[in-house]
Amino acid sequence: MTDLVIYYTRTNKTKTIAEEIAKEKDAQLLEVIDKTNRDGSIKFLTSAIDAMRGKKTSIEYDAVDLSEYDTIYIGSPVWASKPTPAILEFVEENDFNNTNVISFVTLISNGADKALDNLNDAIKSKGGKIIRSFSIITKDTDIIQLTHDALNDE
Ligand SMILES: Cc1cc2nc3c(=O)[nH]c(=O)nc-3n(C[C@H](O)[C@H](O)[C@H](O)COP(=O)(O)O)c2cc1C
Repeated sequence: MTDLVIYYTRTNKTKTIAEEIAKEKDAQLLEVIDKTNRDGSIKFLTSAIDAMRGKKTSIEYDAVDLSEYDTIYIGSPVWASKPTPAILEFVEENDFNNTNVISFVTLISNGADKALDNLNDAIKSKGGKIIRSFSIITKDTDIIQLTHDALNDE
């Protein structure tokens, strides 16, 4: 069995971190694509409002049987102190029974604990067991180094 790293990204920070985890853990990667257009500053605002209100979205990803993996890493940017609609939709659509999950969020400053609580509650309600969570500040920092620090903290 192997590990799986699931992530959503809008501006590639969470993707960079997910790829680093996959490299370090020799894990597979699964990107969740949000079908809602989130480009530009107007969409930035509507995306924050969508996240704040827990609005649903349509997503695309390769179908996967989560029970086939040892550890599932699942990562999302923080939007308005919440996980992204795309990651919450992925959790909603999938069975996490008998899975061990490490959740993580990326952000520039505030909202990591709130977003992780929200994400972890959603995963637990789908049967997943949260074994660890971490957050990575992506502003003006060496996110590769921070990813290694977080993984070596296990
Ligand atoms: C709509 C929106 C809302 C955001 N809200 C927050 C926030 O509440 N707190 C925070 O620290 N960063 C916030 N950010 C910044 C992102 O969480 C951060 O830049 C993240 O690392 C981006 O990940 P990505 O490049 O994978 O999309 C927000 C970004 C967007 C686009």
